[in-house]
Amino acid sequence: MHKKWFILPVGLIVLAGCTPADQTPIEETSKSSNGQNTSSETSEQKEETTETLTEEEIAHLEILESLPEDANSKDWNLILVNNWKPLPDDFEPNLVEVEPDKEVDARIVEPFNEWISAGLEAGHRLFFASGYRSVERQQNNYDNSINKFKKEGFTEEEAISKTEEYIAIPKRSEHHTGLAVDIVDQQWIADGNSLTPDYDTQESQHWLLETMTDYGFILRYPEGAETLTDINYESWHFRYVGKENAQFIEEHELVLEEFIELLEERENL
Ligand code: DAL
Ligand code: ZN
Repeated sequence: MHKKWFILPVGLIVLAGCTPADQTPIEETSKSSNGQNTSSETSEQKEETTETLTEEEIAHLEILESLPEDANSKDWNLILVNNWKPLPDDFEPNLVEVEPDKEVDARIVEPFNEWISAGLEAGHRLFFASGYRSVERQQNNYDNSINKFKKEGFTEEEAISKTEEYIAIPKRSEHHTGLAVDIVDQQWIADGNSLTPDYDTQESQHWLLETMTDYGFILRYPEGAETLTDINYESWHFRYVGKENAQFIEEHELVLEEFIELLEERENL
């Protein structure tokens, strides 16, 4: 999917009787018993009452209705941090070290550890490359990347642009929340590889994709969603959102930005 949702006029949202079986456009009309439009209608009323719902609008209503009942856009596990939405200044992560110098939010330690252990049982020796990152650490990564590209001969502008394809601007990385994890496998690293999109050629990455929602994670920057996330495809970056939310996001092929927009739309009805 990964296309921008549109906001329906509130008047259409209250339309009743919009069942999944309704595949054809629905017309709201005001008709007399003989099927003719009543003569007392003003032209404005006529225009309003003959609004047609397209299949796309019906699908949108259906998806709104099927959102996880208890999910709220303000939930701790749905915090959105991206290039348009920096980390709130008062944000304080609640961190637990799961490996030396590798921390995640305390509330995701259990599902994260269970996921990694399940990977081992399935024959995948996973490598936890990165979890929580402070703003200073992100700044370091960001600056180092720009310098590396400049040394390769790119101009400052080009170096910034290439860096920002994969490295979020400091304060705009969801790694600051402790809810994002970068995972590849140990052999991939031992073979001299790093965090690159072609990690998706590996069986362990396929296993991560198949199992992620069971542990409450989503692939945060899918291929083809770059205009929605503002980050290139990252086959290694997973984000905790909770199991029910993750399953919904996967089933409907959404990105987190779209899911939160849908929740906000429901909350504003
Ligand atoms: N690689 C992701 C986008 C980050 O730097 O947060
Ligand atoms: Zn990452």
